[in-house]
Amino acid sequence: MPCRVVLGGQWGDEGKGKIVDYLSASVDAVVRFQGGANAGHTLVVGGERVAVHLVPSGVLRPECEIILGNGMVVDPLALRDEIAGLESAGLDVRGRLRVSTAAHAVLPYHKLQDQLEEQRRGGGGIGTTGRGIGPAYADKAARAGLQLGIFLRSEAEMQKRLRAAAERKLQLLRTLAPDVELDVDAMLEEVLDGAAVLRPLLCDTALRIHELLDADKEILLEGAQGALLDLDHGSYPFVTSSSCTTAGALAGCGVAPRDITSVIGIAKAYSTRVGNGPFPTELADGDGVRLREAGQEFGTTTGRPRRCGWFDAVAVRHAARLSGFTELAITKLDVLDGFEVLRVADAYRCNGETIRHFPSDSDLLGACVPEYLEIEGWSQSTCECRSAEELPAAARRYIQILEERVGVPVRMLSVGPERDATVAL
Ligand code: IMP
Repeated sequence: MPCRVVLGGQWGDEGKGKIVDYLSASVDAVVRFQGGANAGHTLVVGGERVAVHLVPSGVLRPECEIILGNGMVVDPLALRDEIAGLESAGLDVRGRLRVSTAAHAVLPYHKLQDQLEEQRRGGGGIGTTGRGIGPAYADKAARAGLQLGIFLRSEAEMQKRLRAAAERKLQLLRTLAPDVELDVDAMLEEVLDGAAVLRPLLCDTALRIHELLDADKEILLEGAQGALLDLDHGSYPFVTSSSCTTAGALAGCGVAPRDITSVIGIAKAYSTRVGNGPFPTELADGDGVRLREAGQEFGTTTGRPRRCGWFDAVAVRHAARLSGFTELAITKLDVLDGFEVLRVADAYRCNGETIRHFPSDSDLLGACVPEYLEIEGWSQSTCECRSAEELPAAARRYIQILEERVGVPVRMLSVGPERDATVAL
């Protein structure tokens, strides 16, 4: 049975949630494997809008098991609140959610540290989501973090370990901001309240995933963020702190390369980025404003307006190569309806040279000027199209150009937020 990976092919916010929901109609389990509550998308449940940050998009399919894998960093308070929101909208969550004992806890002091470090960086900040992601992964790498399995220990042991970690962190934070305060007792009380919800969900998720694979169940591994925010391969330091590629999927849920049957890269029909860092095809003109308004490009997690620009085939080629995309899904094609001319970057001009690869150095990337292909747009609406034949010829041509320039076949298009506003190619 297939074990498919779904990954962001740009800077995050590609509309992965909708594609995972669409694909999960037939799957037995959806697994998240990296990141934490920095991700986010809005689900419409029984007419109500619910924002999810940690729980995989498969939550909308009642038969589907949902798993938070070992590579994630999980804020127990955010998870508690998210479960409450989804359950009050009528979804069963706890009956089918499993959370890895090996995932690391994001604790209130990580969020405080994230904010203080951003302040220290001043105008040159990364523009993080403020969810404590970088500090939690830093503690994990430094072997100073707390795995969620701690919440299965006795109350006395949990208290002792959490208190010791918080006090150690407070000393460190005082070197950043001497006046910083953290009420450790209040923090303990709140975290233990969140832990009560989490405790029954904890298990060895790598073992569970292998049980599912051995039983020939169909699994979807759902990435968060996107390849260009990858800690190793993105424009460091303007990246997130996890691996957003197929490699991250393997490490973050404990499966092997041979378990993966396909890798679906998701890319918007244009580009967006939130937070700081180089973005070669960014548009500072009316076209950028038009994309933001037509695409409703405002972050689900922070509400920040997203920076918008033309499709960057250099960047998506880089993502495709890193993760071995076997197919592409292009989202938000309808946002391009009505543009007379569309542009796609196929190369960059960099220090007097034309290059076709995505530079690994973020200063070099910042100096790159896109070389564009100009493509005729279409005036008709694509919102109601449900097959390739119904699409305007110019839209089909645009998709064909993306396919050729990225070098990966496009198998799916999204032309609206609803589940059925999807075209299989
Ligand atoms: P962090 O992941 O909160 O540390 O933020 C690091 C960078 O990644 C910032 O530029 C964020 O805006 C960006 N980022 C993190 N998560 C997402 C996401 O889900 N979508 C888009 N950008 C994100």
